[in-house]
Amino acid sequence: MPTPMPTPIILDVDTGYDDAVAMLIAAGHPEIELLGVTTVAGNAPLDVTTDNTLRTLDAAGYTNIPVIAGAHRPLVRELGGSTDAQSQHFRFSKKRAATPGYAVDWLVEMIMASDGEIVLVPLAPLTNIALALYKEPAIVEKVKKVVLMGGAVHGGNMTPTAEFNIWIDPEAARIVWQAGWPITMVGLDVTSRALIPPDDVAQVKALATDRARITGELLDFCVQREVVGWGKPGVQIFDACAVAAVVDPGMLTTHHCFVDVETTGTLTAGMTVCDLEGLTEKPANCHVGLDIDYSRFFRVMMEGLEG
Ligand code: RIB
Ligand code: CA
Repeated sequence: MPTPMPTPIILDVDTGYDDAVAMLIAAGHPEIELLGVTTVAGNAPLDVTTDNTLRTLDAAGYTNIPVIAGAHRPLVRELGGSTDAQSQHFRFSKKRAATPGYAVDWLVEMIMASDGEIVLVPLAPLTNIALALYKEPAIVEKVKKVVLMGGAVHGGNMTPTAEFNIWIDPEAARIVWQAGWPITMVGLDVTSRALIPPDDVAQVKALATDRARITGELLDFCVQREVVGWGKPGVQIFDACAVAAVVDPGMLTTHHCFVDVETTGTLTAGMTVCDLEGLTEKPANCHVGLDIDYSRFFRVMMEGLEG
């Protein structure tokens, strides 16, 4: 069966280890054309997330993929607590500086000049995306769909009710969910069901590409922390799930419903309130991920890292 035309995508990242893995899968997958990567403050300050993004792509041989820096802080709040695991400078070597300019301007220019086929893949706090919507609301009609890593139907990983990407900038997230474009939410309910066991990490490391070698190093770090340290059966590579779902949307079990974001709660700021039962009677604005077929996820991961 002939390979379908590759899907043009833009990643928005706060590189961290899982953003890096997601980028390497996207850069190498035959069904994806990675048009560029915009960076934002989140896991770490903007200079660190931008530097880590450059180091990841350059070490894997992708110096041709533009990297453009964006917002240095959330819309309203101060930049929250980045975790030690995600805020280190990567040690891979970079070969260039970021592309001059501002990510928000670049996003609007790329999207408005496109033929409407771009899939926008935010893997970080949604500050850049919200600012792009304010700069040019018409991007809503020009983006094919948004597939984002963030949120949760149940629970959180920064507070009991909020996932990190949304918790860092709830105001930006609310703007994104209210924009009216097609959204697929790849939240913690999905990513927690796609844990990569050590045996599968070994399969990645057996591949002979630079992408796989770098990914293997990043996954080894996660294995030490999450499997050895916390006794988990595998490692949670949040952002890779969103990229995989662009290639094979059918790997997700989703429910189309209304989603809004809590921005004022003392205990619930950053909560993605998913109206699965339709109780608000508000129109559905999001395909909420509820589950994932791990074998299809891992197959896309290997496709992106091999060959
Ligand atoms: O909660 C997980 C998300 O927060 C991932 O995108 C990770 O990179 C961090 O940004
Ligand atoms: Ca991220």
